[in-house]
Amino acid sequence: MEQTELTKPESLDELIKTLHKIFESDSVNVEEVQNIMESYTSNPQEWMQYAKFDQYRYTRNLVDEGNGKFNLMILCWGEGHGSSIHDHADAHCFMKLLQGQLKETLFEWPDRKSQGDMVQKSQRVLQENTVAYINDTIGLHRVENGSHTECAASLHLYSPPFQSCQTFDQRTGHKNSVKMTFWSKYGERTPFATTVSQENN
Ligand SMILES: [Fe+2]
Repeated sequence: MEQTELTKPESLDELIKTLHKIFESDSVNVEEVQNIMESYTSNPQEWMQYAKFDQYRYTRNLVDEGNGKFNLMILCWGEGHGSSIHDHADAHCFMKLLQGQLKETLFEWPDRKSQGDMVQKSQRVLQENTVAYINDTIGLHRVENGSHTECAASLHLYSPPFQSCQTFDQRTGHKNSVKMTFWSKYGERTPFATTVSQENN
């Protein structure tokens, strides 16, 4: 696949412009997206307008709709906040740490016949500026801010965009379909959060 020469984005805006360029192509080069997101050095001044935290759970804040090709958002994790175990609706998922640390636990898809605890494959702690990648063929994951003193923020790119995913009960492997909502869009708090849902990504 042909790759355009891409230079290190010097700001979040530049990163977004480069992502638009990359996603003009119909096929996603995972390594290219991962590299370009990793090469941006997080500068809180550039993204704090989107980073809206909630006291009770992590929030999803839309930054850019990527010409319909991807959704770029910032997830804000308060102390101890975490997601459920979830899938990614057949999409690519890139997650870059902007601030703090996040623990990612990878699980196998539950077997139809299997009962009991889901099988844990691996666990890692993601450090600032690194980019993790997952899709449904790799497995399922749970993301947590394990710190009880520091919050965390992460930049997520999903392609193609999706509005619902499945969450899984770690003890039984039973799944639920969950609709996802945004806490804010383009830096503005989303006024009517009508759906009471577990939001996951
Ligand atoms: Fe995820």
